Amino acid sequence: MAVTASGIRWIDEIDISALEADPYPMYARMRAEAPCVFVPALNAHLLTTYDDVRAFLADTELTQAPSTQPVLERTFGPGNILIANGEVHRDRRASVDPPLRRRAVSSYIDDLVRPIAAEEAAKLRRSDTFDIVAEYLEPVSTRGLASMLGIGDVPSETLRRWFHTVIGAAGNYAFLDEPFTRSDEVIAEIKDVLEPRLRRLETTPDGTGLSHLLHAGMPTGTVRSRDDIYSSFLIELTGGMQEPGHAAATTVLGLLQEGTYGEIVDDPALIPDAIAEGLRWIAPIGGVFRETTRDVTLHGEELPKGSVVWCMVASANRDERRFTDGERYELRRTGPTHLSFGGGRHFCAGNVFGRELARIALEELTAVVPTLRLAEAGWSMRGWLFRSPQQLHLTTATEA
Ligand code: HEM
Repeated sequence: MAVTASGIRWIDEIDISALEADPYPMYARMRAEAPCVFVPALNAHLLTTYDDVRAFLADTELTQAPSTQPVLERTFGPGNILIANGEVHRDRRASVDPPLRRRAVSSYIDDLVRPIAAEEAAKLRRSDTFDIVAEYLEPVSTRGLASMLGIGDVPSETLRRWFHTVIGAAGNYAFLDEPFTRSDEVIAEIKDVLEPRLRRLETTPDGTGLSHLLHAGMPTGTVRSRDDIYSSFLIELTGGMQEPGHAAATTVLGLLQEGTYGEIVDDPALIPDAIAEGLRWIAPIGGVFRETTRDVTLHGEELPKGSVVWCMVASANRDERRFTDGERYELRRTGPTHLSFGGGRHFCAGNVFGRELARIALEELTAVVPTLRLAEAGWSMRGWLFRSPQQLHLTTATEA
């Protein structure tokens, strides 16, 4: 077996399936032994400590989005917001930001999301055991985002199928054919649904996210190209629909494992902190990538200009130098802010919307279901890039 440039042989043995199963033990070892290291399975360097990840993302002179990123280009198209820099990136942000800014979100979020969350929470009363991911949090998350975008009439099951399929392609770092082919089929279906709406919005703009994708920041009388709209729409679909629900699911799991769910029932004002701790404990998106704009040496590793570096926010959030017992969910944790929304120019556009949606979802949940515990069917968790409970079976019964 070859020895890596850093001379650390165990790094060579890391493969994507091991990362998918549980990346945290590997991150802990990297933080201790190799905080900046080339990982052959990802063909990139990984940064894993809190201070390094935060500083690297904040340094917008040293870093930029990678000029090529085959998986994201294949899934979302070239020039998508995640890999755009400079003017192109500014244009993409101009199209997604207007309905996601703090003030805008505050003006509509309660009216938009609370009725959806209340309706979905009422359905939970029908049975004393349920999978809270599939039966509550994903529907609230997808329907909430779809309403903001202006496609709230698309059924929740269709939205969930769309985002599960596209996300399968966005995380396809093994570059298998099937996830891309399935995603292409779904993207064709999405375009068929969006096209008549876009044609209508060209002449009659409204305040929806889709309307902003078309018009925001464009010179009068012109609209953004369909390719640019679809690529941003798909990124909002995958990240935006999935992540708030998954952050909430992780939060519920942590609260139940630690026996602190009752505390947010008694005091709902704790819910935003509970969600922040869920986002820290298991980052829904485990890492973000950047490219170096010049030669740089980090922890003795020489990175030539153009090196791709994955900033593992999931690892940073558990750095023992910053967080005591970081592998535990602690409702009343104090300490630095988690890095789960990334940093620098690409800092998550939907961070306010996502946190607010998760807050309302948990407020309605605790109001309707004040007693909850993990059911025998249990839960499952996978993923290094996207990680959250895939299923989380819960029961309202007090005895098994
Ligand atoms: C609450 C859960 C969410 C998490 C954990 C999350 C996380 C992230 C992360 C890690 C990035 C990459 C940041 C970087 O490269 O530095 C990102 C980017 C992005 N997110 Fe989110 N996100 C969430 C919710 C949302 C929502 C609800 C939306 C849309 C409504 C959204 C839209 C976006 C967009 C458009 C970008 C690209 C920003 C850019 O490249 O400039 N996200 N998100």
